[in-house]
Amino acid sequence: MPLNKFTCTDFRCLASAELEFDAHYNLIFGPNASGKTSLLEAIAYLGRGRSFRGAPTQNLVRHGASEFVLFGKADTGTRETVIGVRNSREGLEIHIDGETVAGAAGLAEVLPLQIVDPDIHNLIAGGPAERRRYIDWIAFHVERGYLDQWRRFRRALKQRNAALKENASHDALAGWDKEFVETGYEVHEARRRVLAITRPALRDIGAALLGSTVDIEYQQGWSTDKSLAQVLTAGMDRDRQLCATQAGPQRADLKLVYDERQARRLVSRGQQKLLACALILAATAVVQSHLGRALLLLLDDPAAELDSDSLTRLMAAVVELDCQVIATSLNPDLVLFPQPPRTFHVEQGDVVECTAKESC
Ligand SMILES: Nc1ncnc2c1ncn2[C@@H]1O[C@H](COP(=O)(O)OP(=O)(O)OP(=O)(O)O)[C@@H](O)[C@H]1O
Ligand SMILES: [Mg+2]
Repeated sequence: MPLNKFTCTDFRCLASAELEFDAHYNLIFGPNASGKTSLLEAIAYLGRGRSFRGAPTQNLVRHGASEFVLFGKADTGTRETVIGVRNSREGLEIHIDGETVAGAAGLAEVLPLQIVDPDIHNLIAGGPAERRRYIDWIAFHVERGYLDQWRRFRRALKQRNAALKENASHDALAGWDKEFVETGYEVHEARRRVLAITRPALRDIGAALLGSTVDIEYQQGWSTDKSLAQVLTAGMDRDRQLCATQAGPQRADLKLVYDERQARRLVSRGQQKLLACALILAATAVVQSHLGRALLLLLDDPAAELDSDSLTRLMAAVVELDCQVIATSLNPDLVLFPQPPRTFHVEQGDVVECTAKESC
């Protein structure tokens, strides 16, 4: 199972928690402000090395404590791996099987996870950066060497922008252009391949969730009838004026096609949530099938903004994925799963497993 044991110390309102998860269905319930989202955020932090809500790490240490510590035992397909994260005044420390490692990429490899939270509609309604992160997450897991290509591209972009700010000579800029174009195409091609394998999964899941055609088109970030080198040359004056590179994969976006209209503008919030869920579930399906192992799906209050039919369809699609699910709910009696889940009750930051209904 993706995440077997999990312990957490001094993370947001959680002083200390120790949980053993079911391989399939887990439910965390409790009243408002009890610590449900905090628990999911702690688990997600262990798999990503950052907050899924974009919260600064120092805000996640429990008030009055000096550090937070997270540990988990995760099944990587062939064996169990122990991962740990400690955030103290000295900064973030990441451990994998007892070794200190640099960067959070190792965590993401051990514990690949996706999250659906009440802000998920931002994947549709928010800016393009969210959608680039979405496609890059799939690419990280399915495209060999993608992280390296992406980092080289970001470096080339940063250096080109710095050269533009310094009003560098034509020759100096041409040097950065070469690296920018080379790495830009690597990122671009990887994203196109990823999109090609994600679209069929999205169409299937979209049809199941929304009962209509859902598709995505990749907008590459520069005019499709020109090469990247051509647009850099043509846009040089504007880039110099704005001190930033205006065209390239850093401007890519996903255009969502829903009933032949652009989803971002036209759908209701509930439909936006379902559409975003279709994207997340499609990404999970693609990465799961590539890695050949179950992923972890965190559902923070999946019932929010959905009518009961929509929630039923969403949970049926989740069950179909056959991944490990940890969901939160205000209501312990809400039926989300086809079998009784392993259930935990959270109250004022204390987490207790409910072994029998009357124990909670
Ligand atoms: N660094 C921190 N130290 C201590 N408490 C914190 C910290 N950060 C947030 N909290 C508190 O944690 C509590 C639980 O928040 P959380 O978002 O986990 O609740 P929740 O159970 O998800 O509630 P809801 O049902 O409203 O979504 C809140 O009262 C919040 O103020
Ligand atoms: Mg919450």
